[in-house]
Amino acid sequence: MFNWGVNHLEKFVINGGNKLYGEVNISGAKNSAVAILPATLLAQGICRLENIPNISDVTVMLKILKTMGAKIKMINESTYEIDTRTVTSFTVPYELTKHLRASYYLIGALLGRCNSARVAMPGGCNFGGVRPIDQHLKGFEALGATVTMEENAIVNTVADQLMGNSIYMDVVSVGATVNVMLAAVKARGLTVIENAAKEPHIVDLANFLNSMGADIRGAGTDVIKIRGVTFLHGCDYSIIPDQIEAGTYMAAVAATGGDVLIKNVVPKHLESISAKLLEAGADVIEDDDSIRIVSTGELSKCNIKTMPHPGFPTDMQPQLAVALSCANGTSIISEGVWDNRFKYVDQLVRMGAEIEVNGKVAVITGVDHLNGSPVKADDLRAGAAMIIAGLIAKGRTEIENIIYIDRGYENVVEKLKAIGADIERVTFEDEPSHEVRTAG
Ligand code: EPU
Repeated sequence: MFNWGVNHLEKFVINGGNKLYGEVNISGAKNSAVAILPATLLAQGICRLENIPNISDVTVMLKILKTMGAKIKMINESTYEIDTRTVTSFTVPYELTKHLRASYYLIGALLGRCNSARVAMPGGCNFGGVRPIDQHLKGFEALGATVTMEENAIVNTVADQLMGNSIYMDVVSVGATVNVMLAAVKARGLTVIENAAKEPHIVDLANFLNSMGADIRGAGTDVIKIRGVTFLHGCDYSIIPDQIEAGTYMAAVAATGGDVLIKNVVPKHLESISAKLLEAGADVIEDDDSIRIVSTGELSKCNIKTMPHPGFPTDMQPQLAVALSCANGTSIISEGVWDNRFKYVDQLVRMGAEIEVNGKVAVITGVDHLNGSPVKADDLRAGAAMIIAGLIAKGRTEIENIIYIDRGYENVVEKLKAIGADIERVTFEDEPSHEVRTAG
């Protein structure tokens, strides 16, 4: 039986009110890591990956690869050598995929590797509905694969030879762009992905594949061109810093007050977050690979609309909502990516926030303060928002379901304590009852 790296028996306890001062080091990007790790299946050699974040989503992806037959050597806490030449199977059962949404990247990677993939869809649903993969499947079919849905939501894709093609994405999708890149990188001829996602992790994946010998141009723009190659070798690669982890600490400092230097970031990736925090009244000072955030007093209202990159990231929406819940004035947040990403609002309202949600819009009337309360993490970013709420609230906040937070934030307790937060990870005396879903 595996230890999947998650602990269901813990909670965070926060005594709010401390301002934050000091320095935080940002880890490697979760959403890059969960795409790049399956991409190692395409290499006929050893990939040495640095700046891998120590989070449970990565632990799970490494265990999936290992179970499939890959040889994985840990060099240090953030560096791994991965050799997938020993992988023989192209079937990945639900027992392996159920823990991690991004396990569907194994479809593109296996299809690209051996023209065949049978992968069970990860279970669960986030943000209020089933997360569709129609654009992923449309891309595989355009490359010449036959896609069938088998019993128990197993996606079976098979091709004699994948052939490059033009693929227009009907929605801007990070997942579909990644999956089609993985499948197309060794297809014969030219693949053009139009209306592609432009997130920093798309560029990171392209850079990684190019380091292995791929020929991918245009990543980071709407049009990605992939000229298929027949052979990809191993390589050394360092994953980019996590823009959402950095943004979460920025939001925390803006909300609590204080002065923190956030190190190991790419300031360009954080532009939309910096712009909104500046608009709300915080000082944001950029350097080459760090950002200093200095609070100048109470935040002011500001309006936010989440959009695909370079728009304001949906994965920062809950954290900013918390910061604005105690701002001066009324802010409006419009969610432009997911249908239902305001589930966490109920918990903030219980803490004293004044927020009204109507469909994909939340109207936040700033209040004087929040009150500490027992809350739970509904998903990864909702959990991050609960931490910030606990940090600014008067009194004690206890957060359950922290397995979601551990999926995407490395050493969050240690990092926050180092800048002055009063937060502890404690073990439940009785086992809590809550469902476990996939995240990310
Ligand atoms: N969509 C479709 N059809 C598809 C794919 C997506 O209609 O085939 C829709 C979705 O329903 C959604 C929109 O397109 O409304 C965007 O979805 P996208 O595919 O871009 O999301 P994703 O790839 O499933 C990644 C991140 C999420 C992040 C979104 C948006 C990873 C592993 N996950 O998800 O990150 O919210 O992009 O930026 O990269 C998180 O880190 O907490 C997280 C949820």
